[in-house]
Amino acid sequence: MGHFIAFALLFLQLYTAGAKVPAVIVFGDSSVDAGNNNHIQTVLKSNFRPYGRDFFGGKATGRFSNGRVPTDFISESFGLRPYVPAYLDTAYNISDFASGVCFASAGTGYDNATSDVLSVIPLWKEVEYYKEYQKKLRDHLGDQKANAIISQAVYLTSMGTNDFLENYYTLSNRRSQYTITQYQDYLVTIAESFIKTLYGLGARKVSLGGLPPMGCLPLERTTSFMIGQGDKCNSDYNNVAMAFNRKLSGLVKRIRVGRSGMLFNRTV
Ligand SMILES: *[C@@H]1O[C@H](CO)[C@@H](O)[C@H](O)[C@H]1NC(C)=O
Ligand SMILES: *[C@@H]1O[C@H](CO)[C@@H](O)[C@H](O)[C@H]1NC(C)=O
Repeated sequence: MGHFIAFALLFLQLYTAGAKVPAVIVFGDSSVDAGNNNHIQTVLKSNFRPYGRDFFGGKATGRFSNGRVPTDFISESFGLRPYVPAYLDTAYNISDFASGVCFASAGTGYDNATSDVLSVIPLWKEVEYYKEYQKKLRDHLGDQKANAIISQAVYLTSMGTNDFLENYYTLSNRRSQYTITQYQDYLVTIAESFIKTLYGLGARKVSLGGLPPMGCLPLERTTSFMIGQGDKCNSDYNNVAMAFNRKLSGLVKRIRVGRSGMLFNRTV
């Protein structure tokens, strides 16, 4: 998993800096959703077996995984809880969220039009929930403690695959407006304003997740099989993923300038 390899670098940076990480805060899609979709009106849920069969207690929490998702392992590696609870899960409250919280929603993306496809939580709304979380945290712990958590927490983001696979290549609207290169640039502008918003709200350690080799997802390989091409990966999609990741790396470089005290990297 690319997440782990690139994450190891961030971990090393933080470790060398002697930084204490009080919380892990997650934004993104199904790659990191811890169960928020269970609490909204969407068909995109995973609260049934075989999902969750290797999770604690074999519980299908709403993670799109047989067990934990990468951000759960990352939380554990910081000596925090071995999983990051979903913000909308009523089994948890602000005392729990003080050491980690997940705002991710399966099916979402950078583009508002992507989250509309299956009525999931758009990125701007994940950020609204994060603002609400900050307020609850300040009410619960007082400004000083809450601000320390907000600035020392590690922020992990993981999304973008759905913008291409569920939206651009599946529906005609964005395809009629943008070439694939223009669409990538459009998504990068949204990523940029998202990161700047997080920075403005006090986040200082941000790991911006890139795209996985999305042409090798099971669905894409099955599609190849159906059209008589064996089960090979879709290399066009993989090339788009690599091009988009290069653009995200450029964004990371640009955004670092003039933002001292910001630890910022890109994963995958
Ligand atoms: C959170 O829930 C726990 C029990 O699950 C309870 O002990 C604690 O007081 C609650 N905290 C707040 C701030 O509501
Ligand atoms: C997405 O929708 C929100 C809420 O309507 C809006 O504030 C935001 O500007 C939209 N983002 C883009 C890039 O259009």
